[in-house]
Amino acid sequence: MEALLIDGGRPLKGCIAISGSKNAALPILAATVAHGAQYTISRCPAITDVALAGEIIEALGGSVSRRGDTLRVDTRNVRRHAIPGSLMGRMRASVLFLGALLTRFGAAALTMPGGCPLGRRPIDLHLDAVARMGTSVVLREGSILCEAPALHGAAIELLFPSVGATENVLLTAVGCGGTVVLQNAAREPEIEDLGRFLQAMGADIAGLGTDTITIRGGAPLHGASYTVMADRIETATFLCACAGCGGDVALTGTDGKYIGPVLDALTDAGCEICRGRDTVTLRSEGRLRAVSEIATAPYPGFPTDVQAPMMAALLRARGESRFAETIFERRFAHVAQLRKFGAEIEVVGAGATVRGVEALRPALVEGTDLRGAASLVLAALQAPGESAVTGIKHLRRGYDKLEEKLRALGASICTGKNPTGNFPSDRV
Ligand code: EPZ
Repeated sequence: MEALLIDGGRPLKGCIAISGSKNAALPILAATVAHGAQYTISRCPAITDVALAGEIIEALGGSVSRRGDTLRVDTRNVRRHAIPGSLMGRMRASVLFLGALLTRFGAAALTMPGGCPLGRRPIDLHLDAVARMGTSVVLREGSILCEAPALHGAAIELLFPSVGATENVLLTAVGCGGTVVLQNAAREPEIEDLGRFLQAMGADIAGLGTDTITIRGGAPLHGASYTVMADRIETATFLCACAGCGGDVALTGTDGKYIGPVLDALTDAGCEICRGRDTVTLRSEGRLRAVSEIATAPYPGFPTDVQAPMMAALLRARGESRFAETIFERRFAHVAQLRKFGAEIEVVGAGATVRGVEALRPALVEGTDLRGAASLVLAALQAPGESAVTGIKHLRRGYDKLEEKLRALGASICTGKNPTGNFPSDRV
């Protein structure tokens, strides 16, 4: 079984460049299907979820080619509106093609999306919203068949500021023959990036970044070139890695602008953080202080995707850190694995209390979701000795060149087989 083999206990020092945002690139790639044209999308991370979005575009009849971190997408020959279930089921973001297909064809045939096992993750808010714009939705034998012969304007208020549902409203509304006013919209920065891409395609959208977005549908759309925003969750993950290990790192191509609550928590824990125009640095010396309360929330609150990496950073902090996970029903799967490193964590309902320990020990652990697997890597980096993290296909979904970046910061990490204690002698 493939695993990341990590010889932990070293500080992280150095400078790395942060990649483009997975959660911005995916809705932007879906948007290219909304209008048949040629698109150039730069700073697209080389991760499996982006590759899968490309497979979906190609399954619909389009073409995608990569040169470095730039994707060239041609959707002029997209002719199909049905996405194979084998592709739909491999990530959550496959559901974002719904809105683009409704705009393009007035029809879409999907199945339930996949994605990290974080709870039920229904798509009722997505389907209710597109129905408000004139879509009929029929659930038949596992398929979701959507027909929208005449998409029209609507006033929509989301029961919860769902990121994906907000993105599907934008993708559908640009094809409406009227104005859509969306209230209680999610405000995550990745939604703004999608909105700016749609504006680059010619869409008429106002209110991006607020909880009320107005889309005047029917504006003529065209091809576009765009550069994806920096991945703020990757930024936060590497800041947590250095906080936990100790050291001094500089992350370029990012500025920490969209992760204020994360920077606040790391500062409270005793890290020294500096933000520049295009760089954020973190220095961590000595034992961290526990952070009394970290509650995840929709943007601009503490990002749920950073809950697990932050927990790893605080495993050795002096005192008790308390986490409240308010977004997903089941986002503590990493806790049982973190305990194998000697971490002391108690979970009660949607809360977790971490009692900092003096030291962690190496362990063989298994990742079961993207950010949970990242937290296991961050714990292994702190544990003196040789650990192994399996389930790294989850990491490949959302972190571009993770090992390479960590090695550039001084970590001893490589990919290997058979994590049963026989570690390869050719460790890098
Ligand atoms: C996006 O997922 C992100 N994924 C997630 O990142 C992120 O954790 C999440 O937003 C919250 O910020 C992508 O952008 C590809 P939601 P999404 O709809 O859109 C419930 C990562 O690690 N809900 O805001 O699925 C849902 O069950 C991933 O990169 C409904 O009940 O998140 C959840 O409890 C993990 N009905 C809550 O809302 C719906 O129709 C938030 O979900 C939709 C959502």
